[in-house]
Amino acid sequence: MDVNGKYDLIIDSPGRINIIGEHTDYNNGFVLPTAIDKKIKFKFRKNDSLNICNVHSANFNTSFSFDLNTVKPSEHQWENYILGVIDGIQKVSDKLQGFDCVLDSDIPVGSGISSSAALECGLAFGLNELFKLGLSKLTLVEIGQMAEHNYVGTKCGIMDQFASVMSKEGHVILLDCQSLEFEYVPIKIEPYKILLLNTNVSHNLASGEYNIRRKQCEDGVAVIKKKYPKVNSLRDVSPEMLAEFKNELDTVTFNRCSYVVDEKVRVLDTVKALKNNELKVVGENMYQTHDGLSKLYEVSCPELDFLVDFSKNFNQVIGARVMGGGFGGCTINIVHKDFIEQFTEEASKAYFEQFNIKLTAFEAMPSEGTSIVNN
Ligand code: GLA
Repeated sequence: MDVNGKYDLIIDSPGRINIIGEHTDYNNGFVLPTAIDKKIKFKFRKNDSLNICNVHSANFNTSFSFDLNTVKPSEHQWENYILGVIDGIQKVSDKLQGFDCVLDSDIPVGSGISSSAALECGLAFGLNELFKLGLSKLTLVEIGQMAEHNYVGTKCGIMDQFASVMSKEGHVILLDCQSLEFEYVPIKIEPYKILLLNTNVSHNLASGEYNIRRKQCEDGVAVIKKKYPKVNSLRDVSPEMLAEFKNELDTVTFNRCSYVVDEKVRVLDTVKALKNNELKVVGENMYQTHDGLSKLYEVSCPELDFLVDFSKNFNQVIGARVMGGGFGGCTINIVHKDFIEQFTEEASKAYFEQFNIKLTAFEAMPSEGTSIVNN
């Protein structure tokens, strides 16, 4: 494909952070994410064909083409994010025609800031504009999530796609993943900033383990439901109710459920603290979340645990934890603005000495969701 020439539409589609509320979305709980200033830039144009589409990734310097009439999963995983979205759009609209698309990303892959949701949602958003499909933002979000389920194979919740599309600059979104009601909460954390430390490891069991976690939560719910028929998800289970099942559930299932049930309470407590400017409480809750994710939910790894423990040496860091699905990627840290440089240096040095791996660090700015750059 000729990647140069004139394009009709340019879209920015961001990655996301999540302050707190991890592995709660697919349990119908609450999350507190927002888009950040790392994004995939998409350029779109219609081509002269009715059904041939060409996609080029500038990062991987690779292209592929497909026919709208014969869309099916590919053996190349990155193509599945694209094909899954096309399949989802074609289930609700017959207006797609041939197009060319070039994408260029500054979101590090596998770092827990959801380059995949940015890819799915940027594509869906762009095609919705280009072909005037008239789909709502929520439909685009759901198309992204289903691409992940049906083509990529991860039975993810809705957080990443929702944050990528719906975010508002300077805010986090308190999203109720059951009703999909949401509230924009201003993120005023001066003199602190959000620092991401990328372990640059990605333990490849992650996708399989993710689906296993989801299944374990559902298994727990099935047992609880026998006594409490109104319970449909861990959203409906309080810590006290769960305690009644300590002997009935096996230890692993109990621990998984216990983490989720506590995390649900922590998210709401954190939002309250954020609104009252009690940043220390926000930070303490983040540390508790990490503890639960590491010991009860078991989605951390030595590299992430090391960085979170290391951060506890400094009063200027008020909270840190693994972010996203886990098994590698980034920790999210709330750090005093005057200490960012020194902390980054010391953490990088200690991390390299321990694992012989280079750490990458960057500040994350709460930013606007997927948007048109020009057309
Ligand atoms: C991944 C999934 C999300 C969510 C997080 C964990 O990012 O895509 O749906 O479950 O993990 O909170």
